[in-house]
Amino acid sequence: MLQTRVNEGLDGVVVADTAMSMVDGEEGRLVIRGFELPELVSRFGFEGAAALLWDGLLPEARDKAMVLAGLGRARVHAFRLVPGLLAVAGTLDPVEALRAGIALLSESEAMPHHILVCGAMPVFLAAALRHKRGLLPIAPDPALNTAQDLLRMMRGERAAPDFEAALDAYLTTVIDHGFNASTFTSRVIASTRAGTLWGVLGALCALRGPLHGGAPGPIIDMLDEIGTLDNIDRWLDRELEAGTRLMGFGHRIYKVRDPRADILKAVVAGLPQTAGRLAFAGAVEKRILDLLAERKPGQRLHTNVEFYTALLLEALSMPRDSFTALFAVSRAAGWCAHIAEQEKGGRIIRPQSNYVGPMPT
Ligand code: ACO
Repeated sequence: MLQTRVNEGLDGVVVADTAMSMVDGEEGRLVIRGFELPELVSRFGFEGAAALLWDGLLPEARDKAMVLAGLGRARVHAFRLVPGLLAVAGTLDPVEALRAGIALLSESEAMPHHILVCGAMPVFLAAALRHKRGLLPIAPDPALNTAQDLLRMMRGERAAPDFEAALDAYLTTVIDHGFNASTFTSRVIASTRAGTLWGVLGALCALRGPLHGGAPGPIIDMLDEIGTLDNIDRWLDRELEAGTRLMGFGHRIYKVRDPRADILKAVVAGLPQTAGRLAFAGAVEKRILDLLAERKPGQRLHTNVEFYTALLLEALSMPRDSFTALFAVSRAAGWCAHIAEQEKGGRIIRPQSNYVGPMPT
């Protein structure tokens, strides 16, 4: 029978049960595998959170130590593929470099594929970023955690402990988030039984867009363009008049403030020399919220995770074109969990469309 009502954007459509995460958009609450987000970040760290997500679904997931060791081994393995990646990475932006890198991973690899890909991504990202700056890649240190080693592979030396902890908090905060566009993409691919590497690759492509994981780079561009406090109103008026979407604001599920925003804001505040930038960003944020409430009444547009992601990654001196790729380094762990969950029981995802083209005469 023909469908007549189209639910654009699948708004409010529930397509699966999941034991991974619960996003409560009215309460501004995120629960991951039974833990409130603040507790997940303070107690588990990235590898601990990955172990929690993968527990019972994937091998090498029993505890944090196992995941730490597995990802360390995978980073060492992936470093062997770096020369092949760098042969093409010179002209690629960091997300494109990740895409090319994941494509180099072999399905015949004996290592579990979720470990393989989650270990490889930070290695590929660090090598591609250094290559762009004319620097040689740095070999991974399998004894470190992902945040520590990623910073080390990018910089050539260990970062200060507060920087390492800040990146770990970021990677933990964004590890999973319900059925967002990239996770849904990974599950559609998994539903065809294509396999983990393909699901992660497809999810990365969905993450790239500015309405999803591509937002934070442009947030720094926006703050730079505004430049000074006395330019906030002029800049925002002009952009809102032109119909520009303000990056870092609005969310399909959250109708109140995104709980991840305040966690990341506190992390930025704990880093040295961020007070001035945070104060300026806070003034811009406040004005944006006022203007959005005025001009889009009823839409309930609030700050989302990306606003303070941008400030945190900037404070860690990450290049702004690397922000989306850094997001992917974390979210890949969530994608792998969802892929495994989908493979365990889900049917092929195959919705319907409403044909509006011509009929044969
Ligand atoms: N700035 C200005 N107006 C906005 C914004 C924004 N950031 N977000 C939504 N609106 C407006 C829309 O223009 C629309 O107004 P209209 O009805 O007058 O045309 C209304 O709010 C509803 O917008 P939709 O696009 O229907 O909302 P949807 O739930 O589909 O989109 C999204 C959610 C994509 C996140 C949107 O809010 C947006 O584009 N935000 C900016 C990009 C961004 O920050 N993305 C990161 C999201 S977090 C993440 O993915 C990790």
